[in-house]
Amino acid sequence: MKNMQKAAIIGCGFVGSSIAFTLMQSEAFSELVLIDANADRAEGEAMDLSHGLPFAHPMTIRAGHYDDIADCALIIITAGAGQKPGETRLDLVHKNVAIFRSIIPEIAKRNQEAVLLVVSNPVDVLTYVAWKLSGYPAHRVLGSGTVLDSARLKYMLSEHLDVDSRSIQAWIIGEHGDSELAVWSGATVSGMPLDQFCELRGHYDHKAADEWLHREVRDSAYEIIKRKGATYYGVAMAVGSIALAIVRNEHAVLPVSNLLHGQYGLSGLCMSVPAVVGREGIETALELPLSEEERQALTQSAHTLKSVIDGLEL
Ligand code: 2OP
Repeated sequence: MKNMQKAAIIGCGFVGSSIAFTLMQSEAFSELVLIDANADRAEGEAMDLSHGLPFAHPMTIRAGHYDDIADCALIIITAGAGQKPGETRLDLVHKNVAIFRSIIPEIAKRNQEAVLLVVSNPVDVLTYVAWKLSGYPAHRVLGSGTVLDSARLKYMLSEHLDVDSRSIQAWIIGEHGDSELAVWSGATVSGMPLDQFCELRGHYDHKAADEWLHREVRDSAYEIIKRKGATYYGVAMAVGSIALAIVRNEHAVLPVSNLLHGQYGLSGLCMSVPAVVGREGIETALELPLSEEERQALTQSAHTLKSVIDGLEL
């Protein structure tokens, strides 16, 4: 029987431990198991996090082994190399596919009921790899995708327009990486078309703004990595929101990476597009209305990912 309040995090670097820190504050979990190739690291993180529990809510955070994941409802995978300055996410593919070849069968042997949430990069390719290697049904394998990029876009728009980022609906879709795109045609501020709201705030050059905002969002990770070596708090908040959508069965619409079944004319790859997310992972695949330019950019992004996937022997 799976325990809806139990999750495992595989990979306890900056990203995995920041996710644990986010989840422990959510009050949605009774147990978090931390697993890392470096057992001391997992134990150290579990100790450090546990010392914060008197300020949170009663739960257990412990270092563990694969045998401890058998009843987890959610398994979050952050293991793998991160980007170094100047590296793209796709540059990590061979190193991280090799790591997934050792991790995924260990999971699949012990648990066939959980939702697998992939965070390691390149996340869209590794979500596909996790699906292939696990034998899980596709709806229970998803990646953190462009949930973070969409949050970055909302944050940057909120600064530009001086409005609460939570009042903005805007998506980044496609690869979580260099070929991602913004869906400007559907962006709104509480239902008001984005361009109209921009004009209320005295901004009229929409094309120029779209270009620099897209560039800043797309290049955010490079800029952060250049300065501090890694990104982890933003992604931890994004993964926290996906994790809660799953364990609380929220039916939240999130741009997670998921296997496409013909939406947008695409199939045979995982890519980040909005879907309804609940207890069983992807509940309903959606197809957003897109402008012709957006559709072309999405197709191009899919080709980029597909050519990487086709180069893997799975
Ligand atoms: C990020 O976008 C590196 O994928 C990570 O922050």
